Amino acid sequence: MKIIIVENHNELSVLVAQKIATYINHNPNTLVCFAAGDTPLGMLRELVTMQSRKEVDLSSVWYAQLDEWIGLGIEDIGSCVRVMTDVFFGPANIPKERIHLFDGLDPDTNGQCRAMEKWIAAHGGIGLTLLGIGMNGHIGFNEPGTPDREGCFTVSLDDTTKSVSVKYFGAERSVSTGITIGWYELMQARTAILMVCGEAKAPIVKASLKGEVTVDVPASLFQNHSSLTVMLDKAAASLL
Ligand code: F6R
Repeated sequence: MKIIIVENHNELSVLVAQKIATYINHNPNTLVCFAAGDTPLGMLRELVTMQSRKEVDLSSVWYAQLDEWIGLGIEDIGSCVRVMTDVFFGPANIPKERIHLFDGLDPDTNGQCRAMEKWIAAHGGIGLTLLGIGMNGHIGFNEPGTPDREGCFTVSLDDTTKSVSVKYFGAERSVSTGITIGWYELMQARTAILMVCGEAKAPIVKASLKGEVTVDVPASLFQNHSSLTVMLDKAAASLL
């Protein structure tokens, strides 16, 4: 595990974008999987800017959506698909055929999971995944206690995740389930980047990187990833 600490969120966004662009330039046609959430927004915008400067071709790779809130779709502000479409897929002009999404409105969640697994397998597994950490240590929607099941699945959302979700939706929404690529599958990604910022995350960063490896802190499982870079701002790293 390599740990890189920078001054602030802006610097972090630029550095992570550069790392991802370099990866894409060296690995066209690989499959990548990016977390939504607040942390990567600046980084995603930076990637789009880099593409406009012809420093990377973001349509040269394939995309798998990491996770989604069950019951929410593209019309819903704060859904993962809405964020990724507005901030990244749209502005970067990524062809639809390059992207495989979870449909949070489809009641056939089992079918959604099997389709995502097929997409991942058809593209040779995940080449690079960019992950964030939830306040409870979740990765994607792999909540504390999620066992090592292969593939994708639905998960009952933890109370912490439900209360934090208000920041995405701007109001309370009754979300209780998430659909996600499982952590076992994410652990098979050939390269993983964990991006974290802000003082509020400092305790969970410490538990994830320095604490026991346990399903109770899903991010800690990535201590055993074969090629993990943790990229943090100073505030998130303050307890390390
Ligand atoms: C979102 C996702 C989540 C977030 C995590 C951190 O697609 O996978 O695991 O990465 O909840 O969210 P922010 O960045 O909003 O603190």
